[in-house]
Amino acid sequence: MIASPAPTTPLSGGSPILAMARRAAELRAAGRDIVDLTLGEPDFAPPIHASEAAVEAARRPLGYTPANGIPALRAAARASIRRDRGLDYADDEIAVGCGAKQVIFNTFLATLKAGDEVVIPAPYWASYPDMVRLCGAVPVITPCAMEDGFRLGPAALDAAITERTRWIVLNAPGNPSGAVYDQARLRALADVLRRHPDCLIMSDEIYAYIRYTDEPYTSLAAIAPDLRHRILLVDGVSKAYAMTGWRVGWGFGSAPLITRITAIQTQNCTQTAALSQIAAVAALNGPQDVLAERNAIYRARRDAGLEILRRSDRLAVLVPDGAFYFLPRSLSDVDDATAADALLDAGVATVPGSAFGSPGHLRLSFATDLPTLEEGCRRLIAALEGRA
Ligand SMILES: Cc1ncc(COP(=O)(O)O)c(C=O)c1O
Repeated sequence: MIASPAPTTPLSGGSPILAMARRAAELRAAGRDIVDLTLGEPDFAPPIHASEAAVEAARRPLGYTPANGIPALRAAARASIRRDRGLDYADDEIAVGCGAKQVIFNTFLATLKAGDEVVIPAPYWASYPDMVRLCGAVPVITPCAMEDGFRLGPAALDAAITERTRWIVLNAPGNPSGAVYDQARLRALADVLRRHPDCLIMSDEIYAYIRYTDEPYTSLAAIAPDLRHRILLVDGVSKAYAMTGWRVGWGFGSAPLITRITAIQTQNCTQTAALSQIAAVAALNGPQDVLAERNAIYRARRDAGLEILRRSDRLAVLVPDGAFYFLPRSLSDVDDATAADALLDAGVATVPGSAFGSPGHLRLSFATDLPTLEEGCRRLIAALEGRA
């Protein structure tokens, strides 16, 4: 008998977000009335020109594509980052994968070895620490205060970096914090990063188009061009174009890093689906009005949700500047997992903040229609106030 290897990497036990969504779905299937505010998934259809391009392409023979995507996709992604973030990347400076998630994971696989450290500001997207652990490396969780808008500060960044630090993860707008970094803060972080030339920087900009501030989005790579060769800028169609299920994401970085990421891609799923790539090209090259239209809808939901959440003094809630989540601090004396369980009993599904390195908080997604969101927020308030 061949012994199976013992698991060596302690994981968090799979996505806690999906676990909560599953519990909500099970209760619904059993006939309970549950408002589900767990998933961070746009509730819109893809732009119509993207769907039509895919339908048309599905009638033709479709074979494998290059692992780093069809040339038209690389060209469209490069044009969009040039247009919207003022950054020029060459064709050998982009890697494509099955969603931003796979690009991030491929990148860690390509660059991390056992014992390396990755600085992850909290609150964080729940996948980063597990991906780092799967590579045998160590997530170094760096808390960011709610009082500072959940943003990483230069002193905290400096203190978190050691001689083992390989990557620093920056995610703005942040999931689940909604934090956006202004230019002054980015400059201050860049100053620290210059003092640590061996650290790479993952700038996860997947929510760049979902923002509620008037300033244009600023990428770290644009404000600190001297750091550009150390940055992997991650983006994709999932959030901006409501195409989560199509699984198309990419990363821009130095050519040597991109070559290593793409080598990993060739040995797992080869490439993301050809049909999805064709749809993504149409989304990127087609009319962009959909971005502003949907932003306005998200903003209206954010404002309506905030108005309800602020009625309770059992919650402290920050105005998210981007993405589509509230991350209120629960001021009751139970922990966040217990609070989320009680809320589920009261008919509203949320995710405990500890899933994002933010114990004491709850995450509510407002990527859902307005009546559902308002009902969910009302139930939450009623339950916290003991009126449920
Ligand atoms: C911060 C962040 N990065 C990356 C991703 C992954 O995006 P994709 O669906 O393109 O894999 C998500 C998805 O929830 C996210 O929230």
